[in-house]
Amino acid sequence: METALQAIPDTFAIHPLHTKEYLVDGKLHTWTGPTTEVYSTIYTPNEKGEEAPTLLGSIPDMETETALEALDAAERAFGRGQGLWPTMKVADRIKCLNNFVEKMKTCREEVVKLLMWEIGKNHADAQKEFDRTVDYIYDTMEAYKKLDRRSARFDKEGGVHAHIRRGPLGVVLCLGPYNYPLNETFCLLIPALIMGNTTIFKPAKHGVLLITPLLKAFEESFPPGVVNILFGRGRKIASPIMKTGKIDVLALIGHSSSAVALQDLHPNKNRLRLVLGLEAKNPGIILPDADLELAIKECISGTLSYNGQRCTALKILYVHKSISEEFNRRFAEAVDQLKYGLPWEDGVFLTPLPEPSKPAYIQELIQDATEKGASILNTRGGELTHNYSYPAVLFPVNDSMRVYHEEQFGPVIPIIAYDDINEPLDAMAKSEYGQQVSLFGRDIRKLGPLVDTLANLVCRVNLNSACQRGPDVYPFTGRKNSAVSTLSVFDALRSFSIRTFLASKDNPYNNEILEALLNSKESNFVSTDYLL
Ligand code: G3H
Repeated sequence: METALQAIPDTFAIHPLHTKEYLVDGKLHTWTGPTTEVYSTIYTPNEKGEEAPTLLGSIPDMETETALEALDAAERAFGRGQGLWPTMKVADRIKCLNNFVEKMKTCREEVVKLLMWEIGKNHADAQKEFDRTVDYIYDTMEAYKKLDRRSARFDKEGGVHAHIRRGPLGVVLCLGPYNYPLNETFCLLIPALIMGNTTIFKPAKHGVLLITPLLKAFEESFPPGVVNILFGRGRKIASPIMKTGKIDVLALIGHSSSAVALQDLHPNKNRLRLVLGLEAKNPGIILPDADLELAIKECISGTLSYNGQRCTALKILYVHKSISEEFNRRFAEAVDQLKYGLPWEDGVFLTPLPEPSKPAYIQELIQDATEKGASILNTRGGELTHNYSYPAVLFPVNDSMRVYHEEQFGPVIPIIAYDDINEPLDAMAKSEYGQQVSLFGRDIRKLGPLVDTLANLVCRVNLNSACQRGPDVYPFTGRKNSAVSTLSVFDALRSFSIRTFLASKDNPYNNEILEALLNSKESNFVSTDYLL
């Protein structure tokens, strides 16, 4: 399973990127303090000629003092709602976003390459992540225009005219995950910005250098203090910022342990809004009449795309006893056919894991399950290298095993054979998570009532297909510990804003003022201008 390192094509060769820049108050500053080296878990020969993790560069290890300066800058830019950004015309905010996305597109190649080296994403998926993010920005601008068009009017109820819009919430702290360090972070940052909030953003531990080519574009596209980008450790940056109580929205995609710890630091919890995408343990349920070929294909992509490091990944499979033997055999064979290799190799599906400790963790789960009675069904399951543990298909799994409960976020697939459909339903009801489910079958008399139940246990039921977040226009959320608030191109605009309005009693005195106000263009909020 070792990979041929000498075969790195020139296009993907990497040169260390030692970045000292960070963005605060609209200016790129040079960090003069300590820095942290960034390594890839892909091994290449080091200066002694020994194979070792590849040095990709370094980032500032910033101190609390600078983090608080960024907070001040964001607060000033919001200016208790009077700042340039929160009061700016919709059309002008869109111009800034447009400007940014045009500049961002010129960095595609560099960002894609860093995605491959930093987090081991294969070339096709790394390109997809970049392009999907660019599309998301364009779609967000369109959705915002639409929202604005719908608000360009007055309502009249109970003798009161109302001009209702969505307004910003204040200062947003954005923290993204390592598995989609560009896409998921920007799916928080962009809607937060377009709604008029000001932001502080710290990239995840892995997938951090890839933000640096975009710093200039941020600097040139937004007014001072609207976007602030910091590098370093959460405890020196995010924690002290939260402790001040000045953050209005915590926007985080990641683990609930971080989200809860950060919320706990905020002194005014009722003031803090949350936009969180957290863990999940999405099950695949394979009914007796499922099309096995289709179910296997979808379960392979559902469990193992990007090595299972997706919050939407299928993390446990429930297969009906009557088909379990055939499913297990064919699924295990299909897993062994998957190509493991370096992210730039043609047709590669499985790639190195970016977290150095992940292979050992996956091995722990395998060992725990096998000690408690499960077998590894596929020949290559659990083959170990310095940066990978080949996907292991574990069967039969039960609730005494860690892999039954823990979100593995990596290449190991637990399978359970069930007799009665209430077994997976009970397990889902008991689970801490409630994001999505994949349901494989055909008989509508079985599917109908099942969909009715499943829709109340999770937030998306995927019929005969793997779980996924996209298309990004659809709501992405979860029940229980899986999420707080809803994201989608449109829903994110709602999540990062609040409805606020001008109310005016219907009388000649007020009506005259309103009309004059509308004609004068003195207010950006009170406007019936129509944005095409
Ligand atoms: O990690 C969670 C992502 O939101 C999953 O997105 O389903 O498009 O891979 P995806």
